[in-house]
Amino acid sequence: MDKETDPDCNNDAAFTVKRRTVLGVGAGATAAGLLPVRLEAQEQPVAAAPENGTPTHISFQVNGEQIAMDVDARASLLDLLRERLALTGTKKGCDHGQCGACTVHLDGRPVSSCLTLAAKVDGREVTTIEGLARGGDLHPMQQAFIDNDALQCGYCTPGQIMSAVACVTQGHATDPDAIREFMSGNICRCGAYVGILAAVLQAAETMEG
Ligand code: FES
Ligand code: FES
Repeated sequence: MDKETDPDCNNDAAFTVKRRTVLGVGAGATAAGLLPVRLEAQEQPVAAAPENGTPTHISFQVNGEQIAMDVDARASLLDLLRERLALTGTKKGCDHGQCGACTVHLDGRPVSSCLTLAAKVDGREVTTIEGLARGGDLHPMQQAFIDNDALQCGYCTPGQIMSAVACVTQGHATDPDAIREFMSGNICRCGAYVGILAAVLQAAETMEG
């Protein structure tokens, strides 16, 4: 697919698989993932990396909040978000870069967090589904997913929405085929692709207007 990868995070494999369409936040899961979450690094022991025997200290922004913590050099960004920062809106599907459920933005670009080393986000900005809403207002893409019934179980929805936002902001929401191509790395087992496409088209007008 055409979704951008972060070369520093070795994510190329995440988007090389040609699939047809999308991910998201389920209604309940979506609602939980739509609101800002206070970040608190969990006090958990960090396993030593076998390569260097010491944890890696990183400082980065998550949804606008500065975080400094020690991480296992082998840990993925996905596990850091879910298990250390309690940002469980980002979903673990395949854990191998093949489904898009774990999509987040790294410095504004969509990446598969399961293939991104947590240690590589030092000094960078991460945005998750929890960081899209502003106060009590949903992001236009979140609202569009609701308006167009663009989800069934909702498991893929956070990743779908993060990719969809990038699709619009990076200028790929020009027509249905371009949207399908950009979103092709985001798999929806429920087959909500028609609604997802409609949501992206709707949000593209709002976001650009
Ligand atoms: S692509 Fe990361 S969990 Fe599937
Ligand atoms: S709504 Fe996409 S997997 Fe269920």
